[in-house]
Amino acid sequence: MADQAIAGNDSAATVVTKGDGTDAGVRRRDFINIAAISAAGVGGVAVIVPLVSQMSASKDVLAESSTEVDVSALEEGQAIKAVFRKQPLFVRKLTPQEIAQANGVSLSALRDPETLAERTLEGHTNMLVTMGVCTHLGCVPLGAGEGENRGEYGGYFCPCHGSHYDTAGRIRKGPAPTNLVVPEYTFPSDTLIRIG
Ligand code: FES
Repeated sequence: MADQAIAGNDSAATVVTKGDGTDAGVRRRDFINIAAISAAGVGGVAVIVPLVSQMSASKDVLAESSTEVDVSALEEGQAIKAVFRKQPLFVRKLTPQEIAQANGVSLSALRDPETLAERTLEGHTNMLVTMGVCTHLGCVPLGAGEGENRGEYGGYFCPCHGSHYDTAGRIRKGPAPTNLVVPEYTFPSDTLIRIG
């Protein structure tokens, strides 16, 4: 069995999957459950805050719109599944081989041409942060969980209609029109990512 740790706050929940490959992975239902917990927390805040201060609304909105992911325990080749603005988010620490694989692809071979460097932050090109939402019709792709099918290009695979993404989260095969979306994010520290 895989070990799973779930951590959350009012605006975010993080799932770290780590194990021997037998875990079928967190799928859409799990994300819905996590999102429901997150939404419940946000709702609780929304009821209380107007009673405390009308002036703090913009600060609260800002807090609700960002998610922090602790990547201190993330090892090369592993990914974290989190929730950002009620949608699945993947954070993946690439291996040197996965980086080389991504950099070895000619841009002319890509449907949605982007380099790995353009899809990551300088100094952190081994950390791929993408939405876990297929750009075809919105299914949650496989590949972030230990032992999940990563598709023909070693990144993510959407089984709904067969879209294959590479190790940079770029669409390589199947009906999805564009790469997995990279949200705005920063590194407040080497082990913490703030999305949004
Ligand atoms: S929703 Fe992913 S391939 Fe159709």
